[in-house]
Amino acid sequence: MADKLKPDWAGEDFLSRCVNRLIESKPLYRLMKNQARQVLINTATKKGIPWREDCQKLEQSPAKSLFEQINNPKVTYPDYYLVPFHAYDEGNLCWQAAFEADSATHSMALRVWKNENLTPEVAQNRLRGNFQQVIENYSPKVVRDILDIGCSVGISTLNLHRYYSQRQTQGNVPVKTVGLDLSPYMLAVAKVKDERQEIAQWVHGLAEKTDFPANSFDVITIQFTLHELPGKASTEIFAEALRILRPGGVLAILDNNPASPVIQNLPPALFVLMKSTEPWSDDYYTFDVESALRQVGFEYKTTVPSDPRHRTIIAIKS
Ligand SMILES: C[S@@+](CC[C@H](N)C(=O)[O-])C[C@H]1O[C@@H](n2cnc3c(N)ncnc32)[C@H](O)[C@@H]1O
Repeated sequence: MADKLKPDWAGEDFLSRCVNRLIESKPLYRLMKNQARQVLINTATKKGIPWREDCQKLEQSPAKSLFEQINNPKVTYPDYYLVPFHAYDEGNLCWQAAFEADSATHSMALRVWKNENLTPEVAQNRLRGNFQQVIENYSPKVVRDILDIGCSVGISTLNLHRYYSQRQTQGNVPVKTVGLDLSPYMLAVAKVKDERQEIAQWVHGLAEKTDFPANSFDVITIQFTLHELPGKASTEIFAEALRILRPGGVLAILDNNPASPVIQNLPPALFVLMKSTEPWSDDYYTFDVESALRQVGFEYKTTVPSDPRHRTIIAIKS
């Protein structure tokens, strides 16, 4: 039997439609959302992530005072972004989401190897390291400019920047990395966490239509962002990435792998929660990323299951 391309709980399958009916009920959604939060925080704390302490530290950090400096008042938010998300009524546009993003990202990495008793840092480095290993085979020899689309609080951006900076120390080529996100709250936290100011710029903007000139970057990544988007927005972002990449430059995507047995066999409680807190799940799990990349003009290269839950997709601007 051919491998299944997507889970039965996504798309138009009977199971998926039943789940969608279930989560349409507002009181039930509210109940599930609050329970999901508690479970997430308690599990993370048990695994060694100081969730509440980290949030308090950020609350007292200069993040809020950086908001005006980072916020671009000309940004117009698309409708798909202005919906409740990850159990936050204001989605990514609030302090609570930004203060909890770091802990939530470490929790996500720990889930990948949940039976191995890893520390959050080891799991995070392994997750990003596997991704970088795949990109390495397609990267230009010299990488000067990098863009991380949907950078959130900067974990993906800093990992990427440090990888390429170390890779090129012998040639003494400086690497300039930019993080782009639509949430000024996330970016304010990213700026606080970028203590040594390694990142050249944290930019508040829409990935579908950036202000970067054509041919600006050697490497562009989109990590854990596509599953938050409708397919149409992803396709528009690919077209914009193609415009701002240099010829020979690489686009690398890291996200949930719809073909992964772990994702396909998620326990019902988990996929119901996931679908109820990530409103574009059906779109993502049925979206043909590879075709969309080709459609906008990329040379699609490969899709690799870079860990048990996630896939890395590579495309080149020829
Ligand atoms: C789950 S987070 C990404 C996490 C991060 N890249 C990592 O790997 O740890 C997704 C991010 O994408 C951002 N985002 C969603 N739609 C966007 C868009 N159209 N343009 C720019 N950023 C967007 C959200 O604000 C959010 O911070």
